[in-house]
Amino acid sequence: PVTRTDPSPVRIERDGVVATVVIDRPKALNALSPDVLRAVAGAFDQLAAEGDAVRGVIVVGEGGRAFVAGADIRSLSELTPEEGAEAARLGHRVAAAIEAFPAPVIACVDGFALGGGLELALACDLIYATDASAFGQPEVRLGLIPGFGGTVRLPRAVGLPLAKELIYTGRRIDAAEAERAGLVARRFADREALLAGARATIAEVAENAWTAVALAKRVLVQAAGTPTATASELEVAGFEDAFRTEDMHEGVAAFLEKRDPRFAGR
Ligand code: CAA
Repeated sequence: PVTRTDPSPVRIERDGVVATVVIDRPKALNALSPDVLRAVAGAFDQLAAEGDAVRGVIVVGEGGRAFVAGADIRSLSELTPEEGAEAARLGHRVAAAIEAFPAPVIACVDGFALGGGLELALACDLIYATDASAFGQPEVRLGLIPGFGGTVRLPRAVGLPLAKELIYTGRRIDAAEAERAGLVARRFADREALLAGARATIAEVAENAWTAVALAKRVLVQAAGTPTATASELEVAGFEDAFRTEDMHEGVAAFLEKRDPRFAGR
């Protein structure tokens, strides 16, 4: 038998411009212990340092049963209230690392995305899912509430009424219902098709100016939930920043000269 000497619960796989962050703790359905959370945040920091070499990131769970079945309930069981707050802050730090990442991040859900698992997926730019997936915020069944952003991002994704229903009941919805609710952007028959679909989307994004995609993400993330006037100013600032890039001048010139653009990523 092979003994694993490196029990890292998170690994990065690279395939050209696509990076995949694999959460590899299948025996606990990839539950997010503090170690896993720190490793996920570290993976995004590491990938961010590569600049435009990474045009998109896929986040996926190992084992075929779960994306992530939530925060690690065992690690939560002995915390004081103050330590509970720290645990929640760690989850929010992971979400912040994903939202600050300059390229799109796609959560590829194949199986359970519950509690902190759904919240991790919600911090990503897009959720793609197989038909075998299930989504929910079951925290109230444990006497808890969502702690990694579920009360913030789930209403933005599906609207306040359905978010309230899901959070108050803890009920799970399947991939088809999640797609109808706008939570899942695209649905696939199986894991292979799911990952191929996510890679194809990243390849499509990679044809565009990296700078522009990063600016668009910055504005979308910063503007979420802010009043219209604030959001509009954020958009104006991003639009202005686009004029500071070589890519914008190249893209516009290429259009006018009826040729393909050659973006430099700056
Ligand atoms: N934390 C720790 N361990 C977990 C876990 C979690 N969130 N979810 C599953 N596991 C473990 C189980 O304890 C079990 O371990 P053992 O084999 O050592 O007993 C193993 O994973 C397999 O799980 P089950 O035997 O329960 O598998 P199942 O098929 O019967 O059920 C399930 C699957 C419905 C997903 C069930 O595991 C479940 O309900 N998990 C918990 C879901 C949950 O409540 N998530 C929210 C957590 S709190 C949270 O996330 C707070 C927040 O917002 C930050």
